[in-house]
Amino acid sequence: MCGIVGCVLKQKNAAPILLDCISKLEYRGYDSVGIATENNKIYIKKDKGKIIDVNTNLDLADMEGQSGIAHVRWATHGDPNKLNSHPHTDEEGSIAVVHNGIIENYDQIKARLISEGHEFKSDTDTEVIPHLLKDFMNEGLSLEEAMRETVKVIHGAYAIAAVCVDEPGKVVATRKDSPLIVGIGDGEFFVASDSPAILKYTNNIIYPERDEIVTLTMDGVNITDIEGNVLDKEIETIDWTPEMAQKEGFDHFMIKEIYEESDAVRNTLTEKESIREIIDDVKDDINKIVFVACGTSYHASLTGKYLIESMSGITTEVLLASEFKYSAKTLDERTLVIFISQSGETADTLKALDVANETSKTLAIVNVAGSSATRRAKYVIQTQAGPEIGVAATKTYISQLTAIYLLAALLADNQELLDKLEKVPNYIDEILEDVEPLKIMTEKYKYTDDFFYIGRGFVYPTALEGALKLKEITYIHGEGYAAGELKHGPLALIDNCIPVVVILPPGENHRKTMSNLEEVKSRGADVIGIGAKSDEGIINKSKDYFLINDEVDDIIAPLVYIIPLQLMSYYIAVEKNFDPDKPKNLAKCVTVE
Ligand code: AGP
Repeated sequence: MCGIVGCVLKQKNAAPILLDCISKLEYRGYDSVGIATENNKIYIKKDKGKIIDVNTNLDLADMEGQSGIAHVRWATHGDPNKLNSHPHTDEEGSIAVVHNGIIENYDQIKARLISEGHEFKSDTDTEVIPHLLKDFMNEGLSLEEAMRETVKVIHGAYAIAAVCVDEPGKVVATRKDSPLIVGIGDGEFFVASDSPAILKYTNNIIYPERDEIVTLTMDGVNITDIEGNVLDKEIETIDWTPEMAQKEGFDHFMIKEIYEESDAVRNTLTEKESIREIIDDVKDDINKIVFVACGTSYHASLTGKYLIESMSGITTEVLLASEFKYSAKTLDERTLVIFISQSGETADTLKALDVANETSKTLAIVNVAGSSATRRAKYVIQTQAGPEIGVAATKTYISQLTAIYLLAALLADNQELLDKLEKVPNYIDEILEDVEPLKIMTEKYKYTDDFFYIGRGFVYPTALEGALKLKEITYIHGEGYAAGELKHGPLALIDNCIPVVVILPPGENHRKTMSNLEEVKSRGADVIGIGAKSDEGIINKSKDYFLINDEVDDIIAPLVYIIPLQLMSYYIAVEKNFDPDKPKNLAKCVTVE
């Protein structure tokens, strides 16, 4: 999704710093890039393409000014081309605007403005904003007041930042349902879609709420509400460092983040006592749990259902956030609705959270501190994965699972599971100590068109997640299935062109899954077995196999068996020369419904 940055710098030129900041938002997924600075006129450079390509043509040297805005665009309205790239301006080029989100009523506004004589250059919804700002400023309002009036006119989701030639050294910004943070540095003031953009300059952050107006000047930051009242906002210090958002010698963020998974588990386990407090608060008042999430977070939630229902007997449902509204009437005050989201900004999830807040207790399990979900849910569990830059979720998934395991174990008062969790980081490290055989085994599948992933019980969601990782970064079709369900239809597809990844941890489902392995093998499939070391004698009947510590039984297998599946997708993507960090058409933070 789009990313925005704005800055006002007391001592430095804005253009190179804006470029540096916006390049840290590349991970969000984008097709165009643009920068505007202000110094008695507005300087704009923008184009379709990646920052590295566009940057060579941008030549920032002649972009004057110590204030400015920047943007990476993920096209929603209008093709990805230079004209539709942000920043957009009014006709005179005196106001420049960047925007993340969607202005839902832009067509009515645009029709009205055109009937009043305005001329538009792009196909975007965003372009109405500088025209509206200009009209309000022509009535005598300041840029800040004009922004306040503009948000009364536009509907939808937005984070907006603007500069104006008539108000030098100033950036005015606002947000609603799209992320925006404010950074307070030493004589350097920022707004940005996400903290990695500005971590190098400051980790003192303010989180503006819906329709609050942020004004950056050389003297500091002023935040006002929709009535114009000055707000005294808390400055929070985040403990993420710029290094955490660097590749640090790894070829890609994704592989670096896979190697950080044992720490993601270790660090999230430290949340145990705060999770216990939440459980103590809700336990006696709930008779049903509903998880709501999208994508990878949905798969983490599915594991939660297996854990909670099998250990506590509490009815647990899992809903896709985008389908949530059809089930919303089944919630009541005795339902605990748990929202899982690494970003805390997913539009589908936030929409559902707002609805659930009306009837039920809500809990958000989120990786990004201060994100919208953390501010809207009644209870919050912060996963401790650190910043995740790769678009495909890996370490945030494992940290979500860790939080869900803690929740389930504490709900059931299951000390044995709590003890097992402590050992999980070591099992992950064991796998990562020697990945070469897995790499060699996987690379040869780069020309394969389809994969199946099968697992039973706790590792059925692992099969779904393994298949999603494959699709996301290798563009190979992968389908996750409950191992016992294959024979009810998809078995018809199995032949020697389709490898089947069989997830086979020790435990009560082992024998049955083994039969499913034989089932697909006898239909000619190339079986890739992922199982326990002591099973080598039976798993070696597979074409390929990967072995894991025997102590990892089926209940904790989701936290460990996913690692080789993530690695397999990574190695295939690299072998196919795809960038695993920035899969086509996908975005890290999906802020549109
Ligand atoms: C994960 O690899 C995907 N990029 C995607 O499915 C993601 O999990 C989904 O969009 C939900 O995101 P969230 O966790 O930030 O809410």
